[in-house]
Amino acid sequence: MSEGPIIRTESLTKIFEEGKKQEVTALNDVNLEIGRGEVFGLLGPNGAGKTTLIRILLGLLTPTKGKAYVLGKDVEKEKQYIRQRAALLPQEAGIYELLTARENLVFYGGLYGIEEEELNKRADRLLEIVDLKDREDHLVKGFSGGMKRKVLVARALIIEPEVVFLDEPTTGVDTIGARVVRNVLKRLSSEENRTIILTTHDLNEVSELCDRVGILNKGELVATGKPSQLEDKFRAANLEEVFTGLVTGEGVYGE
Ligand SMILES: Nc1ncnc2c1ncn2[C@@H]1O[C@H](COP(=O)(O)OP(=O)(O)OP(=O)(O)O)[C@@H](O)[C@H]1O
Ligand SMILES: [Mg+2]
Repeated sequence: MSEGPIIRTESLTKIFEEGKKQEVTALNDVNLEIGRGEVFGLLGPNGAGKTTLIRILLGLLTPTKGKAYVLGKDVEKEKQYIRQRAALLPQEAGIYELLTARENLVFYGGLYGIEEEELNKRADRLLEIVDLKDREDHLVKGFSGGMKRKVLVARALIIEPEVVFLDEPTTGVDTIGARVVRNVLKRLSSEENRTIILTTHDLNEVSELCDRVGILNKGELVATGKPSQLEDKFRAANLEEVFTGLVTGEGVYGE
């Protein structure tokens, strides 16, 4: 029997402040499947629903309607199972400012019941990879924005998750740092067959990294596919044309 999708949503809908004047439909009837080992890019303008979708998939928000499954489990019923195996790099950092870079990793991993010796080994490797070895014993409080993002990337990976959600992993990270982060993600996917879901506003990053993308606009999933498939389908020269066309309604000549 072949394995089902790692992530699946069925008519997933999230309405905030339902019935009130401030009502917002953040997700509207989203049907999505992501397979093991895929690097999936979630695209969409500000407010499209990307972070909301990620938060629902991790059981941090309850959907208004529809269902979501991660690793074959219902996210509303098996939060614990999913949280042990899925990591999140949040858009709005939940970093511990008063711990050092290394302590951030080890403390977080400790919450998952991983032994300290093992955590220190993993932290050595991860801090090396994100190029923070020389600052590992400094308090994160004094780090720049990009350095904090790198600590969060390393922190998300310390539990060696099967699925990693990264909400804008390279926002605010410099060119070299962004390359480092992308290389880490590529390796995780190609060598370790981890499933990666990331959001970004950088379409070059998407072309370089993502096997498939989903474009959200005002809560609706308006397209999914490989970047090259979408370019063909919408007769666009590049992903930016596809994206702009779908989001603004201009310049899309496909269906
Ligand atoms: N807790 C909340 N209460 C009310 N509205 C919310 C809440 N969280 C999100 N929203 C609304 O839901 C919509 C989707 O927000 P979301 O954060 O998912 O967008 P996004 O695609 O991640 O955008 P960005 O690119 O700016 O990060 C927005 O209109 C937002 O204002
Ligand atoms: Mg967001």
